Amino acid sequence: MSAKGKVFNQLKDLKQISIKLILENQNSSGSYVASPDFPVYRYSWLRDGSFIAYSMLINGETDSCRKFLNWVDGTIQRYKSKIEVIAIKLANNHTLYPEDFLSARYTLNGMEVQDDWPVFQIDGYGTWLWCLAEYCRLTGDDSLIEKYRDSIQATINYLTMVWKLPNYDCWEENGDQVHPSTLACVYGGIEGINQFLKEKELSELSRDIRKFILSNLTKNDLFPKYIGSDSVDSSLLWLSVPFSVVEPGHPGMKKTVKAIEEKLLKEGGVRRYPEDTFYGGGQWILLTCWLAWYYVKIGKIQEAEQLFEWTVMQSDERGHLPEQVQTGTSDPDIVRKWEKRWGKVAKPLLWSHSMFLVLVHELESLQSQNDFR
Ligand code: BGC
Repeated sequence: MSAKGKVFNQLKDLKQISIKLILENQNSSGSYVASPDFPVYRYSWLRDGSFIAYSMLINGETDSCRKFLNWVDGTIQRYKSKIEVIAIKLANNHTLYPEDFLSARYTLNGMEVQDDWPVFQIDGYGTWLWCLAEYCRLTGDDSLIEKYRDSIQATINYLTMVWKLPNYDCWEENGDQVHPSTLACVYGGIEGINQFLKEKELSELSRDIRKFILSNLTKNDLFPKYIGSDSVDSSLLWLSVPFSVVEPGHPGMKKTVKAIEEKLLKEGGVRRYPEDTFYGGGQWILLTCWLAWYYVKIGKIQEAEQLFEWTVMQSDERGHLPEQVQTGTSDPDIVRKWEKRWGKVAKPLLWSHSMFLVLVHELESLQSQNDFR
């Protein structure tokens, strides 16, 4: 059987396996575990969770998405008093400590985790607002806006105060920097939720965030990995898809994607950033699907399908997708070092499966549009 034939045979299975896997790994509280078989990932991140919930939403599993949104609401209610403390501290120029901020990840029951993992990451708070807005938009049921009004307002207050402060990026690194892809999540969340709230202050906030991102390009007019850096990062794709800070065809976006293709697209998959050494810095499933998602948006369908096929081929005999594959790794010693510390690369990673599902949905929608014509 041709490689392509094999891919399409596996595809139907992989879609069902991914949905089942995500449903099975949704806690009764509504949270999703990042990876059930990788001990350090047995928590729920707002970042991973929001994209997982979104993939469930667009694949007909609305209840699963709603349960996750409900879990975030409960978690924010539990910790929202921190936001008032931050406001007081900022107003009085008092020092803010990592534990003052809202967490990036929680136990599956929505409790903070006391360890040395980086706490202050704000992208997930933008992403949950975005996911909530997508839920309301796509289901036509905006009752959740009223139901979660208090948590929505708390999140907005929080993001308004902290968006310009340096915080850890989506890879939980560089905590002393400001990252355009993090700001894209905040922008997308505020814009999304403001479709329902229609508040002037929120339009101004998202306008300011966008202006800030656009006035901090590199000297070659690319979006930087972080403000002041000359490096690139595949998470910069988020600026166009799905958060629409800029159109996919924006000149800075096109240049950034060219750099991603030149520096990070390796042996069929997409790496995070050139200097990455985590588990050898291999190709990430979720980022490969992201580039393909971007390609769909700009009509490069063949390129999208190629990445899609590569992704399908990375699933194991159970249909499980890892966080990354290491065929592009030049230093096996680094891989061994990480394996000694934490075990084999996380697999299955729910976020990988969810981005695969997003891509399947995009390609299927394209197919049905073509059939319709
Ligand atoms: C990644 C994060 C992710 C977490 C759980 C970390 O290694 O850098 O982006 O949220 O794993 O999947």
